[in-house]
Amino acid sequence: MSHPELSRRQFLHYAAWSALASIIPGPSWAENRQINKDPDNNFKPDVELELYARTAEVPILSGAETHVFRYSGKLLRGPVNSIKNLPGYLGPILNFERGQKVHIFFYNQIPEPVITHWHGLHVPQKMDGHPMYEIFKGERYVYEFEINNPAATYWYHAHTHDMTATQVYQGLSGLITVRDEMEHKLELPADEYEIPLIIQDRRFTVGNQLHYLHGMHQRIMGFLGDTILVNGQANSTISVKTRAYRLRLLNGSNSRIYKLGWDDGTPLTIIGTDGGLLEKPESMPYLMLAPAERIELWMDFSGRKLGSELTLQSLEYQGGGLPMRGMGGMGRGRMGGMHGELAQGDSFPVVKFNITEQISDSPRLPEKLVSMPRLGTKDVTNPEKTIPIAIGMRRMLFQLNGRTFKMNDYLDIEKIPVNTIQKMRIFHDGGMSGGRHGMSGGGGGGGGGGGRGMGMMGMMRALPHPIHLHGQQFQILSRKTNKDSDIYDTVKEGFIHNGWKDTVLVMPGEEVEIIKPFQDYTGLFLYHCHNLEHEDMGMMRNFYVS
Ligand code: C2O
Ligand code: CU
Repeated sequence: MSHPELSRRQFLHYAAWSALASIIPGPSWAENRQINKDPDNNFKPDVELELYARTAEVPILSGAETHVFRYSGKLLRGPVNSIKNLPGYLGPILNFERGQKVHIFFYNQIPEPVITHWHGLHVPQKMDGHPMYEIFKGERYVYEFEINNPAATYWYHAHTHDMTATQVYQGLSGLITVRDEMEHKLELPADEYEIPLIIQDRRFTVGNQLHYLHGMHQRIMGFLGDTILVNGQANSTISVKTRAYRLRLLNGSNSRIYKLGWDDGTPLTIIGTDGGLLEKPESMPYLMLAPAERIELWMDFSGRKLGSELTLQSLEYQGGGLPMRGMGGMGRGRMGGMHGELAQGDSFPVVKFNITEQISDSPRLPEKLVSMPRLGTKDVTNPEKTIPIAIGMRRMLFQLNGRTFKMNDYLDIEKIPVNTIQKMRIFHDGGMSGGRHGMSGGGGGGGGGGGRGMGMMGMMRALPHPIHLHGQQFQILSRKTNKDSDIYDTVKEGFIHNGWKDTVLVMPGEEVEIIKPFQDYTGLFLYHCHNLEHEDMGMMRNFYVS
């Protein structure tokens, strides 16, 4: 196929796919792209906006500006606060109300194909940003959908075939907030007292340019940066008053998993998860936040001294992963960053809060938040059947249910009747081993012989995977852990199992059961690992809902 705007990279991308399409029978998605070019005149939007994927030069570090890909937006109709621009390379924050009808004219102005996914929102297949709908530079995709998710923090990001990791890395992501009636009644801290915290790790060249590592090590472990950005800024410091705040956290990193906690030992007060507020606040010593997961915190700075500081940090834990010895000295026992800086599981500061103003009144933490249905085995449409999500690897390719990603391919076990509620089991293919007696990734000083005799499967069981399912939010039924694993001890108190989720972290040797509704929409809906390097390596599949 030819296209005047095809860059060399696009050309290779499509050439590869057309070559594949000529050997694999069936229609080629690349030639039959059914992109939604025009608005439907019967759709009456409450909010209408233009969203562009663009190249830009933005200040991130001091000194030279950084060349990035960035979403920028323009509001055409609707409440003025529907779009809030952030400085830096992140897209604008999109603020929606449940029930609003939203029209988004998405324009690709970068020299690569791209498509946008609304992570966590329950929308029809054509509106979901499946890579089969990616558009070329100069093209437009029209999204029209109704917001029917509960109040929570969602996000949007590029979901382009084979390029999700690099495009998100270069900046193509942004936050979405949804509010609803139940939430309004709670009068949670708002405006300047409601702070988004989008956490990402990056690497920079000496000239302040984003540096991405493409090696086999990154493809297996995922990319790890050595510079932590919060809301697109390094060394993030936020001035706060002595009162309560609502913090909306998103882990927008490619593969880094944070173990978040306050540096003075104050417990975390959790009020919301991926897809909604909790029934009541929960207190935790620390929280594991994997790529794509969101968490909402209540943080009360009342009573703190003027001029004092409090840091949200990532605490040390055993990350699990490859044995580093014998791999060219790449790591320090724990699974490594390339040069040994900021390995997965290292500790470092994330964002600092400075108490800069004393005020006397602060809202109180509500005892009850929202009511929500608790899904249990009794709600499952066919209690006899559990849908498997088996994590595996073959020939250096990541797999789910024994297959790597193919654009519109699905197996029998991936067929799901619409308007049903399914029980699903996410597990490491080959069982529960991995850990202290299997393969633990070394840990402080282990290493040595730890990896000897470990096959591919052993290696896979030793990696953590944040598994994300498109479509409706699910609930977690159970998490079975390999208590023998030294990873377990350092992360076990960091999981929250109440509340709506769309992404769940499955640690080495773990097995997680979830209950998920598949209502309203038929078609292909993705499920994949949200370690973006894993996703691009094929750790993604379709469910076919019909
Ligand atoms: Cu956040 Cu399929 O993605
Ligand atoms: Cu993974």
